[in-house]
Amino acid sequence: MKTLEQKIVEYKSRVPSVIENEPMAKHTSFRIGGPARMYVVAVSSDALIEAVRVAQDLEIPFYVFGGGSNLLVADEGFEGVVIQAANRGFVIEHDRVQVESGMITVLAARKTVDAGLTGFEWAVGVPGTIGGALYGNAGCYGGEMKDNVSFVDAYRLKDGVRIRLSNAECQYGYRDSLFKREPHVILGCELKLIHSSVIPAEDFGERHSAELSRSLSRTAGIHPTAPFDQILRARKESQPLDQSSAGCVFKNFDFTDESQLDILRRYVNQIPEAMLRVKRLSAGWLVEQAGMKGQRIGDVQVSDKHGNFFLNRGHARAQDVIALISLVKMNVRDKLGIELQEEVQYLSLS
Ligand code: EPU
Repeated sequence: MKTLEQKIVEYKSRVPSVIENEPMAKHTSFRIGGPARMYVVAVSSDALIEAVRVAQDLEIPFYVFGGGSNLLVADEGFEGVVIQAANRGFVIEHDRVQVESGMITVLAARKTVDAGLTGFEWAVGVPGTIGGALYGNAGCYGGEMKDNVSFVDAYRLKDGVRIRLSNAECQYGYRDSLFKREPHVILGCELKLIHSSVIPAEDFGERHSAELSRSLSRTAGIHPTAPFDQILRARKESQPLDQSSAGCVFKNFDFTDESQLDILRRYVNQIPEAMLRVKRLSAGWLVEQAGMKGQRIGDVQVSDKHGNFFLNRGHARAQDVIALISLVKMNVRDKLGIELQEEVQYLSLS
């Protein structure tokens, strides 16, 4: 039986680009997280698979991530190998876009518009990489990855096979996918978009009104194919983008039956009409109703601007984030009768 140190020596000989004891705070938008014992930047899909295969082979714990924008890493770091997907291939052929998982989502959105395509504009408001967006079915202003993806290429960890999954096979739901339930390394996808020149004006109107009705957006008129400046302005107005955070900490709360809101109704005078219509309560709104905006533990604070953003006010520790998440969840549950679920991903000591 080899020790971890012996395995690390072997890993380094097989994957020469390893960096040791890399602070994860450098790689997360939260600016929180202790060292990864080993850190690999995989610049191609083959390198990504190889970095994972060697870790599997040597039975070293591993974690693949993209942009670090929705990730909370433990203060103690990670005793294994953290692999950054930096495979950034991007090719447009007519209305189809082949994009690798390490591509920055905002950049992909900009490139599609530069190429005269429409449908993916909303993604200019999404931090992180395409891989992370595919994993969590990221969304913004009524657009979601599942609306644009025709297939996803992945490496299935249970049998080490490269597979191509159709949109349906990805089992997409609100901030949910197959990838959250069965471990895969996401390698990339194909986006199916539309040439702006081929959409008749009336279809545009219809598409937008359908999409708008699904969006809770507080900024009326922002739809998934709105111009970049509108999307970016709307986000800046409602989200604390000038401070370190991990984006939304919780998923919004979907309900099927209004009886699930009985306790909430006793506490809150009016539930916004838009939320009742789409049967989804904004987690930020719930946090605000529970009186938790501005709450602070150590250097972590619930934003006064948007209750679903937790801010690193200087030297925040993961431990304090976890304590604040528990406190907020407890208050929302006890006062409003609603159980919030984290959207943020945890990476902790193995
Ligand atoms: N609201 C409040 N107080 C708050 C926050 C929101 O009253 O502190 C109200 C707003 O006034 C509005 C409603 O709640 O009436 C919805 O707010 P907003 O438009 O800010 O959207 P959201 O539902 O809170 C979702 C996504 C965001 C995405 C925006 C814009 C989730 C968990 N969040 O937020 O995604 O950027 O819509 O489309 O689905 C993320 O996933 O990390 C994320 C930031």
